Amino acid sequence: MQKAMNLKENHENFKELKAYIKDHKGEQGILMQTLHKAQKLFGYLPIEVQKFISEETKTPMAEIYGVATFYTQFSLTKKGKHVISVCMGTACYVKNAQLILDRLKKELGVDEGKTTKDDLFTLDATRCLGCCGLAPVIMIGEDVYGKITPDDVPKILAKYK
Ligand code: FES
Repeated sequence: MQKAMNLKENHENFKELKAYIKDHKGEQGILMQTLHKAQKLFGYLPIEVQKFISEETKTPMAEIYGVATFYTQFSLTKKGKHVISVCMGTACYVKNAQLILDRLKKELGVDEGKTTKDDLFTLDATRCLGCCGLAPVIMIGEDVYGKITPDDVPKILAKYK
């Protein structure tokens, strides 16, 4: 279960978000822009942030939730410092991407879509990353690792610890 957001710790972010909404009041596309701003400030869009935006912009919660879940650039759960994307596209899949994913799960002790307890890594399975010639491929943040084997996984992870 997701931990509730620490409102005190995020006080400054809420203040900045409130000022942003005030400055952009009445502009077209304000909801998308506000969600982007919030995602940048908090790193994700938990229920507390959605409620705040709903109150400040007088937008129904259902609409905010609908937009936040429709676009993949928004995340409702907290991401780790490093997001690992394991390509499960066809080219990678036939080159044993599942074994890479399984090894990552084992090394990190989390399932796909989850974040490690120390908030260091989030493990995601994704569609084609656009570099199929390097299959199987994973990305950690902006770094691309291609033609990897399950035994490469610990070495790669060590670089980020
Ligand atoms: S299928 Fe993995 S990069 Fe294209």
